[in-house]
Amino acid sequence: MVALRLVRTRSLAFAAAAAAAVAAFVACGSTGDEAVPGDATRGATAPPPPPASAPTWYRDVEPIVHAHCSACHRTNATAAFAFDAVTATSLAPLVADRVVARVMPPWPPGPLSAPLAGSRALGDGDIATIAAWADAGAPLGDARDHAPRPPLTASVPSRAPDLHLEVAEANAYAGDANPFVTDEVRCFVLDLPAALASGISVTAARWRAGTSVGVHDMGGFAVDAEGAVALRARERRDGRGGFECSGGLGDVRAVLLGAAEPGNEASSATMLPPGVVAQVPAGGAVVLRVHYGVKHLDEASDRSSVDLWLAEDGVAAAARKLVPLVISAPVEVPCPTGVASATDDPCSRESAFARLAPGDPDARTRADAKLAACGTSLDALFAGLPFTPGGAERFVVRTTCGAAAPASGIIRFVRPHLRTRGASARVEAEQADGTWRVVIDIPRWEWWWAGAYALAEGVPVVAGRQVRVTCTFDNGTANQWSALTGEPGHLAPARAPRLPPTYLVGGAARGAESCAAELAIEPLP
Ligand code: HEC
Repeated sequence: MVALRLVRTRSLAFAAAAAAAVAAFVACGSTGDEAVPGDATRGATAPPPPPASAPTWYRDVEPIVHAHCSACHRTNATAAFAFDAVTATSLAPLVADRVVARVMPPWPPGPLSAPLAGSRALGDGDIATIAAWADAGAPLGDARDHAPRPPLTASVPSRAPDLHLEVAEANAYAGDANPFVTDEVRCFVLDLPAALASGISVTAARWRAGTSVGVHDMGGFAVDAEGAVALRARERRDGRGGFECSGGLGDVRAVLLGAAEPGNEASSATMLPPGVVAQVPAGGAVVLRVHYGVKHLDEASDRSSVDLWLAEDGVAAAARKLVPLVISAPVEVPCPTGVASATDDPCSRESAFARLAPGDPDARTRADAKLAACGTSLDALFAGLPFTPGGAERFVVRTTCGAAAPASGIIRFVRPHLRTRGASARVEAEQADGTWRVVIDIPRWEWWWAGAYALAEGVPVVAGRQVRVTCTFDNGTANQWSALTGEPGHLAPARAPRLPPTYLVGGAARGAESCAAELAIEPLP
């Protein structure tokens, strides 16, 4: 059992250890003939053979795993171990458990979401097949049913990319000095080459991690000249390459260019719909956002990059340019015990701003302005919260706010943006008739799997009508970061002992929270 626990570890720094643990687990569970469960040559103690109708690995389960798991579960990819006949059958009960619980494959959007492109979710039939196979003792079946994994290819234009932009040498990422920090999000401003300084119109992007281990996911934005100046000013402020952007890009007008898990070749690229471009105007830049999943990269430092395909001049002029919309709601999350008034009490609002002040002296002004802009107040937000003097393991606080759509058109991309205390997220768009349509609904927020989503058909928006984001946060004692490692929990509570809850506000810093969504709208022609 210990081995399985290890596999569940959040940190990919432990990926090798976990893979070894799985191998060890497999090894101790095997004594030669057991490598073929259900084999008729096994001794009298073997369980009875499965019913002939039971699904088998080679015939029924392996094709599902190839299609839905192997993009991550293979050597040198995101997940800790590769699936083959031996690992899959040895881990069958765990596999079935994770699949039935819909924890694997990771796909946080729920069924209320508008149809999304590239869904990883398993259909009910596939889940039932895997469960039945595990129940039957994970029979391998006939090896002649085995088919090699079909190659997964990223959908990008067939011609070579027009432009390759890489993080500058001076901005290379080298990890945090704190040995416990295994997870951080950094952004890098990539300047356009001089020959393209008048701007570019992007039609497709392929995200490329600079290291084969250590990049959990990445993506990017197109920003204008003003945004590029503002973001460059944030680079290297802490003496390291790029800048901390787990709290997002703030108010910068950033056109979402999509995102990917680079280890996952099925989702390593972004293609815009025909006739649509993401424009980087003169003086603008491409911003790369990289979620590092390990402290210890397999290289001393990382310089990730992106391949871009550009619209030809004539096409670009007529193309519809994606319009960015960033919406955010107030983040005012009290402790389960209530709001303290003493300013040195970590459950007071003042203390939250004081914690952020060294890197973010304007957090308070921003927070007050956000409350006013969203037409709400602390009293309104806190009315009815079940404060308890003794604290609580779970403590859920809701917040919402909208903004007027800047153009009529179709929402193409959305990226909800919460952090480690986020519990759920939803983005909705008000329609012409005043009803609301869900763009994306994430019933159980998992910060590790925060992603950017392309909508399969898009959701209409009308200029001036509202687009709103609604988040819940859980600031209970079980959802706090580990006092031992300084790390948040992932899929399970962080390692005990945990830090006590504090009053949380919005900000870019690692410990701050966020309730925001970035959207890209294709304007009507
Ligand atoms: C997008 C990448 C990705 C895909 C697709 C994926 N996994 Fe995983 N899986 C992971 C990662 C990463 C981990 C390590 C734990 C974590 O970080 O969540 C993991 C862990 C696991 C574990 C160990 C979980 C535990 O709780 O110890 C199992 C079992 C598993 N995956 C099964 C599957 C199966 C079965 C599929 C396909 C039906 C699948 N995974 C698809 C990324 C993926």
